[in-house]
Amino acid sequence: MRLSVIGCGYLGAVHAAAMASIGHEVVGIDVDAEKVGALSRGEAPFFEPGLQDILTEGVASGRLSFTTDMSEAAGAAVHFIGVGTPQQADGYAADLTYVRAAVAALVPHLRPGDVVAGKSTVPVGTAAELSEQITPTGAVLVWNPEFLREGWAVKDTVDPDRLVVGVPAGGAGEAAAQTLREVFHPAVAKGTPFIVTDYATAELVKVSANAFLATKISFINAMAEIAEATGADVTQLADAIGHDERIGRKFLGAGIGFGGGCLPKDIRAFSARAEELGRRESVNFLREVDAINLRRRDRAAQLVVDALDDRPHGRRVAVLGAAFKPHSDDVRDSPALDVAVRLHGLGADVVVTDPQAIGNARKVHPHLTYSADLDDALRDAEAVLIVTEWDEYRRHLTPEHAASLARGRTVIDARNCLDPARWRAAGWSYRGMGRP
Ligand code: UDX
Repeated sequence: MRLSVIGCGYLGAVHAAAMASIGHEVVGIDVDAEKVGALSRGEAPFFEPGLQDILTEGVASGRLSFTTDMSEAAGAAVHFIGVGTPQQADGYAADLTYVRAAVAALVPHLRPGDVVAGKSTVPVGTAAELSEQITPTGAVLVWNPEFLREGWAVKDTVDPDRLVVGVPAGGAGEAAAQTLREVFHPAVAKGTPFIVTDYATAELVKVSANAFLATKISFINAMAEIAEATGADVTQLADAIGHDERIGRKFLGAGIGFGGGCLPKDIRAFSARAEELGRRESVNFLREVDAINLRRRDRAAQLVVDALDDRPHGRRVAVLGAAFKPHSDDVRDSPALDVAVRLHGLGADVVVTDPQAIGNARKVHPHLTYSADLDDALRDAEAVLIVTEWDEYRRHLTPEHAASLARGRTVIDARNCLDPARWRAAGWSYRGMGRP
């Protein structure tokens, strides 16, 4: 099938390349000429495992191309909208400027029977509003939310755990859902749940899934706070409650909480939308979820200050991690980088290292000191702080090696990813999050 993908960021670039990898002919469209240039040369503009391979293959096969020219969308059977919906600069609500601009630019190129599939995360009610511009062209708007996780984006796109399509009532909606079944043929053929809903449900599925995940993380981080007041160990607590199938162990990792381009802004946008709908109290708890999450960043910074006997000024701190999670170079709302910035603000001599994210981190916080080399970052450090649980730190860094470089012997494990017994046995003072 011929497909267009509008917006070539984390979501769109992966979607375009993944669709080409399952045999479609895809044009990716973005307003950023530099990004389009890189993608056209087959270069991934960000780090995402597996993306480079399918990009190279797609571009070489001629099935995948990129352009800044919206008129090249004409002739595609399905047009995916994957532009960003960031948090507004002056509030919690989502900024829909890019979605509205993409739809306005696409409309002149639509033909009757085309399907426009919104993938961006939007406030409930957006699809109904946008359909008023799209329906007069004879095209059909569906909402097909994306659940991909960065770091697993290619796998999650080609082989998702469910497909959700919100359609308008009637025959045109049913036909559009059938078209999407054809687009996602390998997943549909293997029996992946394919759930057809109305617009509002599809939009809400996405935000409620992210709200649930954020709540689960903040729940365990709240338990970490209680553990800190009682001497309990939150990691054992998580293991023990996680054995209950109704609870499950996933997303019960206590630490410095969630960040990234989705969870933080999505729960805020959900609160803002609920308020507009007169249902603020229904999701009031999300404000608490947000507050717990941000408090854990303070806690991690405080543990470092404690380790430096309340005199952080001029003291060297190795910060291991900048990405909001491993297997990503994304630093949007990264708790890791936020803790580094707080310590820098307190006067500490912070050196940040990360296997992938230094380039992006430097763009947003050029005043911090960075080193791509872990040994460099550790050298002469008076405290070692782990804020992103990359395998490089979690598995490969030994306490003996760290001790051969660092000056101090305190490790703050803000992701609870190290073995405390092993570090203590090697002479380190170990501090975790919600652990004695
Ligand atoms: C999330 C959703 O998982 C995905 O379905 C949606 O499409 C987009 O938002 P992503 O932002 O890639 O995906 O990251 P995710 O793996 O969900 O992690 C989010 C944050 O939570 C990270 O900062 C991670 O470190 C943190 N986290 C995750 C925890 O602090 N504890 C956990 O147990 C799990």
